[in-house]
Amino acid sequence: MAVGVVVNAGGGKDYPGKLTMFVLFACIVAATGGLIFGYDIGISGGVTSMNPFLMKFFPSVYHKEQEAERNQSNQYCKFDSQLLTMFTSSLYLAALVASFFAATVTRVAGRKWSMFGGGVTFLVGAALNGAAKDVVMLILGRVLLGIGVGFANQAVPVYLSEMAPARFRGMLNIGFQLMITIGILCANLINYGTSKIKGGWGWRVSLALAAVPAAIIAVGALFLPDTPNSLIDRGYTDDAKRMLKRVRGTEDVEEEYNDLVAASEESKLVAHPWRNILQPRYRPQLVMAIAIPMFQQLTGINVIMFYAPVLFKTLGFADDASLMSAVITGLVNVFATFVSIVTVDRLGRRKLFLQGGTQMLACQIVVGSLIGAKFGFTGVAEIPKAYAAIVVLFICAYVAGFAWSWGPLGWLVPSEIFPLEIRSAGQSINVSVNMFCTFIIAQAFLPMLCRFKFILFFFFGAWVVVMTIFVALFLPETKNVPIEEMVLVWKAHWYWGRFIRDEDVHVGADLEMPSANGNGKVGAGKLGGMQ
Ligand code: BGC
Repeated sequence: MAVGVVVNAGGGKDYPGKLTMFVLFACIVAATGGLIFGYDIGISGGVTSMNPFLMKFFPSVYHKEQEAERNQSNQYCKFDSQLLTMFTSSLYLAALVASFFAATVTRVAGRKWSMFGGGVTFLVGAALNGAAKDVVMLILGRVLLGIGVGFANQAVPVYLSEMAPARFRGMLNIGFQLMITIGILCANLINYGTSKIKGGWGWRVSLALAAVPAAIIAVGALFLPDTPNSLIDRGYTDDAKRMLKRVRGTEDVEEEYNDLVAASEESKLVAHPWRNILQPRYRPQLVMAIAIPMFQQLTGINVIMFYAPVLFKTLGFADDASLMSAVITGLVNVFATFVSIVTVDRLGRRKLFLQGGTQMLACQIVVGSLIGAKFGFTGVAEIPKAYAAIVVLFICAYVAGFAWSWGPLGWLVPSEIFPLEIRSAGQSINVSVNMFCTFIIAQAFLPMLCRFKFILFFFFGAWVVVMTIFVALFLPETKNVPIEEMVLVWKAHWYWGRFIRDEDVHVGADLEMPSANGNGKVGAGKLGGMQ
């Protein structure tokens, strides 16, 4: 090992410096990008369960709903409208397209301008939505919000990873997810309040208030410092060194600075990161960049996040009780996220994935059975209060399982497994697959509920089985493994090892090569159980 370089147990080299207030504050401001994403996720379901909103924009859905109530007809289908789902899902399609453009802006202009642009686009979208006169204005506003999400989600995780000292990268990463869950909860609470507004314009307040988190990120971004990595990449080397000293709170940054310069030069050698990522030696990372966000969405979580009030209404809850139940699931979502913050570096990712998956599956089976037992296939039934409360309880347990497994890990794991030369391409794939699958679920859920009925819960349950087996077999443990040594984890894996040639296994020039048989940092002891 080179003199003066320490490889810590928590991840990466241990460069001199500490978690300064400066960097902490910068990361908190940047993480508010998650707040905006969360607000969007939480707001649409509540708004689409408000009668004045339905009456104004989706009268046919409103009449169908009233009909269902009067005639006790099929509960499963009362919200099935392509236009209504388009309102929810248009945002994700826009975000998917925007994230590709955002990758370029983030690289060429710097991370802060992507965040700023995202925030401003959000603001305009929120204004359009709050003032909407017809469906076109409504959907246009949501597309603008989606572009904002695309830019924010591309830039924020990159910004956090680059600003954070290596030892705190995991913690700050889950800060992004925490902000997402807080955004969802705020939206649920706001919906609960605005639904009580007598004049029938409460939905306008809900939609327009997206301007608050938008303004926070837009104004905040103006004051955010650029990351040293981005400054170096854009040729501002002196500024970069000054910034690095400031964020690390020490003058002793020479070594980290040199490593950043080397990393930047190395990544510039890769002319085609998109073609590069297709090489066999990157197969494990490529598969994970696609599978993890896809599976995250196939847990069915956004059925709850988008449609909890609609779902609870389907169960026969009154308007108010539906929104209140959504607030309860929102609270569970926030608090359960702390479980992962505390345990992720101790228990490891795999244990959380496996435990969370098992818990989600059990809850899906119970919820599907309870709903099936009452509604059957006809969708006609009165559900007693106590019965509905038990359903909500199991939905909460399901949300908790997600909130400490696939929620945070769906963003954390992809961000920590890519070697530098394919990191940006990998991150783009991760974001866009996530948005695409979110779009599909948002668009397909209501028609699926109408056709599959309670079987839908078993459908997502079956996917949870698949993804849990996938994790058990194919995802190696990455806790406490320095990013620069991650290739050893893949090389040591029983399946992925075959894709990586011996000559591809090299770690940073001044890092000690751990022994292959496991008494170094990456070894059988740590990786035991899935070798
Ligand atoms: C997912 C979102 C989801 C949220 C729920 C995030 O990690 O990407 O799709 O709505 O978690 O908390």
